[in-house]
Amino acid sequence: MSAPEEPLVQAEGVVKHFPIKQGVIFKKEVARVHAVDGVDLSIRRGETLGVVGESGSGKSTLARCITGLHPVTAGRILFEGTDITRLSAAGLKAFRRDVQMIFQDPYGSLNPRRRVGSIIGDPFAIHGLADGADRKKRVQELMELVGLNPEHFNRFPAEFSGGQRQRIGVARALALRPKLIVCDEPVSALDVSIQAQVINLLKDLQNEFGLTYLFIAHDLSVVRYVSDRVAVMYLGKIGEGAAAEELYQRPRHPYSAALLSAASIADPDLAERAERVVLSGDVPSPIDPPSGCRFHPRCPKAQERCVAEDPPLVVREGDAADHRTACHFPVEPGESLAHNKAAIRQVSTEPDLPEVEQ
Ligand SMILES: Nc1ncnc2c1ncn2[C@@H]1O[C@H](COP(=O)(O)OP(=O)(O)OP(=O)(O)O)[C@@H](O)[C@H]1O
Ligand SMILES: [Mg+2]
Repeated sequence: MSAPEEPLVQAEGVVKHFPIKQGVIFKKEVARVHAVDGVDLSIRRGETLGVVGESGSGKSTLARCITGLHPVTAGRILFEGTDITRLSAAGLKAFRRDVQMIFQDPYGSLNPRRRVGSIIGDPFAIHGLADGADRKKRVQELMELVGLNPEHFNRFPAEFSGGQRQRIGVARALALRPKLIVCDEPVSALDVSIQAQVINLLKDLQNEFGLTYLFIAHDLSVVRYVSDRVAVMYLGKIGEGAAAEELYQRPRHPYSAALLSAASIADPDLAERAERVVLSGDVPSPIDPPSGCRFHPRCPKAQERCVAEDPPLVVREGDAADHRTACHFPVEPGESLAHNKAAIRQVSTEPDLPEVEQ
């Protein structure tokens, strides 16, 4: 049995590559998307681990690996000490009771032709756990729990508002009392006023049922509000991970500092961090990620070493024991990045590789 201090989830060296194939009859792999490229993380029982990062950084792919929806290319994912990447079909079915997902799109993830009661009751049906009147009763209890009117059992998704539809998704995820819920941008599609209601519902349910969340979002202020710890992803890797407040007050990776500075334009809470670091350029292609530190072509602090050497994710001197940064030249307290742009030009770039035809 697992010891109480053991994390609920432990990912070790998780890699997920998607092959790009070409050819009419004999499909040949011509390239690979390096969606997740060596991720180590842990999620403790009862906590919320937030994951942030620009679009395409691999957040959803990592989430799908952790829920067992994607087979991994390499690495291990321990759930209560058991490696879920090697489970038999029966083991995987049992694991899927313990782990549920809530998706971004409350419109797309609900079948419009099915009644809400049967959608929420799906997990009972799949796992053969309750039927008939018993299932109806349990579904109605779930509807009540998430703030839906249980009388609306027979309605269709289109008869609910966006926020209510996300509550349907939450009810379905809760049905089997999972241990981990992976929330992939659960409020991004909702109006701001509705976002707060759904987030508070998720927090209340976490307290009531001791749930553990992996919470993915673009919005840094949402992540700060819900998370105990935060991991910042960039091009398939974690650049920095720390307790939420620590990361927001004292980001050490130049990428985290830049993300926070960009977010502070819209968020008065973050605006205390007066500095503006503007990230130049687009996120490079995950088909051919930059050498060394993947952030080096956009980093205001990059030097030759960053082009050659991939920095490990480690605790830097002076930082808390669970504050890890993958950077050769982390941001020092009080350091300004805004006028450090000249450094970028001194960095030699890799020769361009031939383009991959798709
Ligand atoms: N099934 C797939 N086949 C091929 N490439 C994929 C697949 N799923 C994701 N990718 C690629 O993997 C990379 C990471 O995608 P992912 O969806 O995990 O990013 P994300 O951080 O969740 O982005 P977003 O914030 O836009 O949701 C992207 O380049 C994406 O195009
Ligand atoms: Mg995503």
